[in-house]
Amino acid sequence: MRALLKTTLCSAVAVAMVGCANINESTTVNVEKSNEKAVVETIMTRRSVRDYKDEAVDREQMAKVIECGIYAPSAMNKQTWAVRVVDDKAFLDGVTEIAVKQNPKLKEQANFRNFFRNAPTVAFIACPEESYSGEYDCGLLSENMMLSAWSMGIGSCCLGSVVPVMNSEEAKPYMERLNLPEGYKLLVAIAFGYPAGEAPVAPERDASKAYYVE
Ligand SMILES: Cc1cc2nc3c(=O)[nH]c(=O)nc-3n(C[C@H](O)[C@H](O)[C@H](O)COP(=O)(O)O)c2cc1C
Repeated sequence: MRALLKTTLCSAVAVAMVGCANINESTTVNVEKSNEKAVVETIMTRRSVRDYKDEAVDREQMAKVIECGIYAPSAMNKQTWAVRVVDDKAFLDGVTEIAVKQNPKLKEQANFRNFFRNAPTVAFIACPEESYSGEYDCGLLSENMMLSAWSMGIGSCCLGSVVPVMNSEEAKPYMERLNLPEGYKLLVAIAFGYPAGEAPVAPERDASKAYYVE
């Protein structure tokens, strides 16, 4: 059992790099402490990745990422989301062609290979048009997916810019292929892939936006 726990922790924190050798096997408290370190480190080191290797994300790894997504909390456990993952290069290149036609300046971006920040795998996240919690639920699902991906060495980037292009008349055939449930709207796309190039630096955060009320 303890060995199983150790194996599970080792595979879950590939990037968080806590190093299972540090886990003191004699107490539960220490195992929990290491877990905390792994989670915090994964959160703090995740960055939006905008350049990727060409190979699509391994589908078994992606299955774990999706599972982590759907284990996010959702209001009344309604799971108000629809997730469609695409690693078909022809699909992504087809949408890229449409995006470039609509905005030729895209091609001026450094290393531009596709409209999805060069990602080979993209998750399209949709929620009901009419739902008080849909967008919130999908946000939580999205973050679970991005963090679990990062813990496995998979980079990601939320892409709001994909939505208007996918909603345009020209992209209709691609939207149809997503086969979203009736009454759902595309909320965001998430790029996934194995990072290429330099590790991104964290944009500055404004700590004054959160504080205790005394
Ligand atoms: C809802 C949402 C939409 C975003 N849309 C885009 C986008 O269209 N293109 C892009 O390059 N990054 C996009 N981002 C990524 C943000 O720019 C990024 O998260 C932010 O600058 C903080 O950087 P970090 O993720 O590396 O910490 C989006 C993020 C969110 C949450």
